[in-house]
Amino acid sequence: MPVPSARTLFVTTALPYANGPFHIGHIMEYIQADIWVRFQRLQGNAVHFVCADDTHGAPIMLAAEAEGTTPEALINRVGESHRLDWARYRISFDTTYSTHSPENVELAQAIFRALRDRGLIATRTISQFFDPIKGMFLPDRYIKGTCPKCGAKDQFGDACEVCGSTYAPTELIDPYSTLTGAKPQMRESEHLFFRLSAPEVVAFLQQWTAQPAPGQTLQPEVYNKVQEWLVDGGKHLNDWDISRDPPYFGIEIPDQPEGLSPKYFYVWLDAPIGYLAALKKHFDSGAAGALGEPRSFDEFLSSPEVEQFHFIGKDIVYFHTLFWPAMLHFSARKTPTNVFVHGFITFKSEKMSKSRGTGISPQRYIELGLDPQWLRYYLAAKLNSHVEDVDFSPDDFIARVNSDLIGKYVNIASRAAIFITRHFDGVLATPGESETDRANRLTIAQMEAEAARANYEAREFGKVLRDVMRAADRINEAFDAAQPWVLAKDPSQRDRLQTVCSQALQGFQNLSVLLAPVLPDVASRVAREFFGLDRDFVWSDSWKEPAHVNAYKHLMTRVEPKKIDALLGIEPAPAPAAPKGVAPAKPKAAAAQAGATSTASAPGTSPITLDDFTRIDLRIARIVNAEAVEGADKLVKLTLDVGELGSRTVFAGIKSAYAPESLVGRLTPMVANLAPRKMRFGVSEGMILAASGEGPGIYLLAPDSGALPGMRVK
Ligand code: 2FM
Ligand code: ZN
Repeated sequence: MPVPSARTLFVTTALPYANGPFHIGHIMEYIQADIWVRFQRLQGNAVHFVCADDTHGAPIMLAAEAEGTTPEALINRVGESHRLDWARYRISFDTTYSTHSPENVELAQAIFRALRDRGLIATRTISQFFDPIKGMFLPDRYIKGTCPKCGAKDQFGDACEVCGSTYAPTELIDPYSTLTGAKPQMRESEHLFFRLSAPEVVAFLQQWTAQPAPGQTLQPEVYNKVQEWLVDGGKHLNDWDISRDPPYFGIEIPDQPEGLSPKYFYVWLDAPIGYLAALKKHFDSGAAGALGEPRSFDEFLSSPEVEQFHFIGKDIVYFHTLFWPAMLHFSARKTPTNVFVHGFITFKSEKMSKSRGTGISPQRYIELGLDPQWLRYYLAAKLNSHVEDVDFSPDDFIARVNSDLIGKYVNIASRAAIFITRHFDGVLATPGESETDRANRLTIAQMEAEAARANYEAREFGKVLRDVMRAADRINEAFDAAQPWVLAKDPSQRDRLQTVCSQALQGFQNLSVLLAPVLPDVASRVAREFFGLDRDFVWSDSWKEPAHVNAYKHLMTRVEPKKIDALLGIEPAPAPAAPKGVAPAKPKAAAAQAGATSTASAPGTSPITLDDFTRIDLRIARIVNAEAVEGADKLVKLTLDVGELGSRTVFAGIKSAYAPESLVGRLTPMVANLAPRKMRFGVSEGMILAASGEGPGIYLLAPDSGALPGMRVK
C-alpha cells in the first residue's frame, strides 16, 4: 500500500517584543501553536517550527536608555527569560532566534530592494512632532495634550480616553512630549512608503485574502474584517510608512543618498521578516537537516508544496493579511499558506489587568509549582478555530483539571493496573472477549482517532478533548460495571478479570496518544514507563493493543486550590494564634476564617486551624486485597486502590474485628499523606480510619454509595 506522502510545514507564532517577560496571552498562543505542531509531527509530517524575539523599535531603545543599558543588553536579557518560559511550557520550537541578526538585516534589505525595484516604494516629505530636548521625532504614543473635542487634559496623541474621539497628534491643544515634557516642534522629514494602495497590490490582496492557497480560506471573521479594509477597490487603503529617522534601534535602510543621516526600517517591516531570518538560521545551523530536510533555505522557501502557517492574535491581523503577503509576493517570494488568528485571554470575562489584580503571571505559575500541562490542558479545552476570546476562570480550571484529567483519565490507569500487575504479571490480554467484539473495539478506537485527527487539524482542540473525556467516561463505566474487585476474588473469573482490565488499559493507551499533543510529558511517561516502550507514542498506537504494562506510578497530581489562590494573589489563611510573648501575625482574612478558629475542640486536644486540617490528604480507597500477616496477630495487610494516587499497601490493626476476606471490595477513607512507616513485615503507606471506644470493637468507616477511589474527603 503506498504511504501517503508526508507534508512539510513551516510554522511560526507571532514574534514577541524583547522588552519584557511573557504575559499569559503570549503563553496561550505558544500553547495553541505547539499543540498543533506536535499533532502534525505525530501524523508523520515534517514541521519546522521557529520563533524569534522582535527586538527593534523606539520603545525598546527608550527602555534600555531608562535602565542605563544598551538595547543589545536589554534584548539579550529578555531573550533569556523568553527561552526559559518556552522550555517551561514545553513549547517545542525547533529554532529560536532574534530579529537583531545578520540574517534579518540581509533579508530585510533584499526585500526592500525588490519592492523598490518594482516601483512600490514612494518617497514623501511628512511633517511630524519633534522633541527638541531629546532630539528625536516622537511616535504618537509619546505625545500627550488637551483633547481638541472635549478639552480633557493629558490625552494621548491619537484618541481621547474621556470622550472617545480620534484625531491626529497635530490637532492636540498644548501638546507635550511624554519623554521630556518639552513642547514638540513640527519638523519635516523624508519618509519611505510601501505603496499598499497601488492597483496591482490591491488586486493581489483581493485575490490572496479570498484564497491564500489552494484549498485554504481565511477564518470567516478574519475575512470579513479584511474586506472592510479592501472595499471600494482598496481606495481607503493608506500607503504604509516604513521608515524612521534616527535615533532608532533598527535595521538601516540601504542605498540612501550619501551625506544625509541614515534611515531605519520601522520595526513592523523587519518583524515578520524575522520569521524568515529564524528559518534561515534553522537551516544554516543544521537543525533543518537534522530533521531530514535535504533542501537549502532558498529551495525550501520557494518550494510550492511547503506549507507556511502563522499563528497570531487578532490585534495584528492588518500586518499579517495585508503588508506581509504583499511584501512577500512583490519581492517574488512565496506567500503564506494561511494565517491562524486567535482571540485574547480574559479573566472572569474581563480583560486581564495587572493593576486590577486580574493578571495571571506565567512565571509565578511555574514558580508556585503548578504543572504547565494543566494550563495546556485547560486552554486546549477552550480553544477552537474561531477568533474568540478565551476566558480563564479559576474554579473552572480547578474543576476541569481535577475532574477530567485526574478523575477520568489518570483514574483508568491507576485502577486497572493494580489487578494486571498483581494477578497477571503485567500481561495484557483479552481471553474473555470474542473475536468480533475485539474487532469492534479496535474499529471504534480507530474511528475515535480519526475524529481527533480531523479536529486537531482544524484546530478544534476543545472538541478533541470533549470526545476524549467522553471515551474516558465510557471506559470507567465499563470497568465499574464489571466490578473487577469482585472478579478478583473468584478464580473462575480470572479470564474475565484480565479482559476487563486489559480493555481499560488499551483504552488508556489510545486516549494517551490522542492527548499527547496537549500533555507531552505525561504521554511520554505513559509510553515509556507505563507501557514499557522504548520510544514515544506514534499516532497508530491510538488504535493498537499494548501487550504489557508496568506497575502504575503516579502520573499527575490534582490542582490544590490554595495554589491557585496564591497565583491570583489571594491572601493565605492567617497563621494560628502565636504563643504568649510572640507577636501574632496580623489577621488579614479574619472573617473567612472565623468558622475554622472557633470550632470547639475535644477535651485535651488543642484547636487546629482549617489549614492544619487540610494538610491531611484524606482519600477514599478501595480494599482490593486483604490478607493476614504471619507473625502478627492483630494486623491485616491491605492493598488499596486510591484512584489517581495508585496502589498502596497498608498494615492495619483490625484483625480482631474483621476477617481479611470480608474486607475485599470495601471502600474506606484513608490518610494518604502519612509518611511511610517501615514495619517488620513491610512498609505501611498510609492509614485507614476506624472508630473505637473505651470497650472492644473496631468499626471501619465507609462512604456513602457513589464515592470512588481517589476522591478527597474534606
Ligand atoms: O504585536 C507584537 O507583539 C509583535 N511583536 C508581533 C510581531 S509578529 C511578526 F510580525 F514578527
Ligand atoms: Zn475628549
